[in-house]
Amino acid sequence: MIRQVKRRGADPTIHGNKTWKSSRLIIDYLHKHPPEHNKKVLDVGCGWGITGIWCAKAMGSKVTSMDADADVFPYLQATALLNGVETKQLVARFEDLTTKQLSKYDLLIGADICFWDELVKPVSNMVKRAVKAGVKKIIIADPQREPFFEVAARCEKRHYAELIEWEVHSSLSAEGALLIIENA
Ligand SMILES: C[S@@+](CC[C@H](N)C(=O)[O-])C[C@H]1O[C@@H](n2cnc3c(N)ncnc32)[C@H](O)[C@@H]1O
Repeated sequence: MIRQVKRRGADPTIHGNKTWKSSRLIIDYLHKHPPEHNKKVLDVGCGWGITGIWCAKAMGSKVTSMDADADVFPYLQATALLNGVETKQLVARFEDLTTKQLSKYDLLIGADICFWDELVKPVSNMVKRAVKAGVKKIIIADPQREPFFEVAARCEKRHYAELIEWEVHSSLSAEGALLIIENA
């Protein structure tokens, strides 16, 4: 099915060209620590969307999958179909999400979304607006790149944020860090 989507010509250009390992870190964390508030989930920089798709399937969440690159969505749609769930699709940039929009969600997740220095400001400011909007929990996962640590430092200064190392040991192994903000 994914090959068919490729053949049809969808060509993501901001690194949304596969499922990244950081998505496994969030899924494993949520599996081990089910959040109290999980009804409405926003998956930012969703790429092929597996993290949000897992939330829809495992927690029954209503999920919005958001990405700046419209070309990720045919892949997301195929992945959702294979998993028997649907998520709402939103083409938008981190910097576009308003406090009002963010206030509709309980949980904000983002896997591997801080991979360039230029993303530090938009991601940090999106988190700031999400906290202001009352999003109950925010989780950002990363393979521990420098820009992610800069986002984490800013969030630790501004909010009650925790930075933890996380590893998944299975056939789909992954390691990295999770930035977690409890805003309940
Ligand atoms: C490394 S991929 C990670 C995708 C997915 N979260 C995963 O773990 O497989 C980063 C994603 O962020 C998206 N992205 C990059 N800059 C963005 C921005 N300013 N606003 C929204 N999405 C952005 C890209 O299009 C891409 O899909």
